[in-house]
Amino acid sequence: MAKAVWRGGALLAPVPPALVTCGTMEEPNVLTVAWTGIVCTHPAMTYVSVRPQRHSYGIIERTGEFVINLPTSAMAKTVDFCGMKTGAKLNKIERCHLELLPGETVSAPVLADCPVSLECRVTEAKPLGTHTMFLAEITAVQVEERLIDSKGKLNLQQAGLLAYAHGEYFAIGRKCGDFGFSVRKKRR
Ligand SMILES: Cc1cc2nc3c(=O)[nH]c(=O)nc-3n(C[C@H](O)[C@H](O)[C@H](O)COP(=O)(O)O)c2cc1C
Repeated sequence: MAKAVWRGGALLAPVPPALVTCGTMEEPNVLTVAWTGIVCTHPAMTYVSVRPQRHSYGIIERTGEFVINLPTSAMAKTVDFCGMKTGAKLNKIERCHLELLPGETVSAPVLADCPVSLECRVTEAKPLGTHTMFLAEITAVQVEERLIDSKGKLNLQQAGLLAYAHGEYFAIGRKCGDFGFSVRKKRR
C-alpha cells in the first residue's frame, strides 16, 4: 500500500475525548482533553496534557488533582462545548446541566453522567512545549453500577463510549474480539 509521508504530528487515533473535571464541588470546572492515556498499570498512572493558557491549568497546578470522566456518544455536544468555551467566562457545569458527585479520594468532582471516572492525583508537571503533561496516579475509579454484572465483570461495551479521531467524534461500534482471544483455546 502506497503511503504519503508527512512531518511528525499528533495523529494518534482514536483517543478518548475526556471530560476532565477539576476544582471542588463548590467551585468546579470542566474541560475537554484528548491528549490523555495510561502510562503504567501498577501503580495505575495516567496523564493529561494541558496548555498553560487554559483556565483549568492553574486549578490543576494549584490543587494537584483532577478527574478523567469518559463520556458517552450521547454527550458529544457537551464534550465539544466544554472544549470550545472557557470556565474563566462561563459556568460550563451549569450551562451543560452536568450533575456532580463527590470524589472518593480527591476534592475534584466526578461527573454523574459519565460511565467511568478516574480520580487522579498529580505526581509531576512536565512542560513539553505547547502543552504541559500532568502525570498522575489514579487513586480511585468510579464505575456506573449498571455496567457491572453479577460476577463483578465490567461490561464497557454497554457504556456507549465516545471516541475522537482527527477532529471528528465517533460512537464506539461493534465488538470484534477481546483480550487474548487470538490465542485462547476453545472449550469443548
Ligand atoms: C475534542 C477536543 C479535545 C481537546 N483536547 C485538549 C487537550 O488535550 N489539551 C488542552 O489543553 N486542550 C484541549 N482542548 C481544548 C480545551 O478543552 C479548551 O480550550 C477549553 O475551552 C478549556 O477550558 P478551560 O479554559 O475552562 O480550562 C480540546 C478541545 C476539544 C474540542
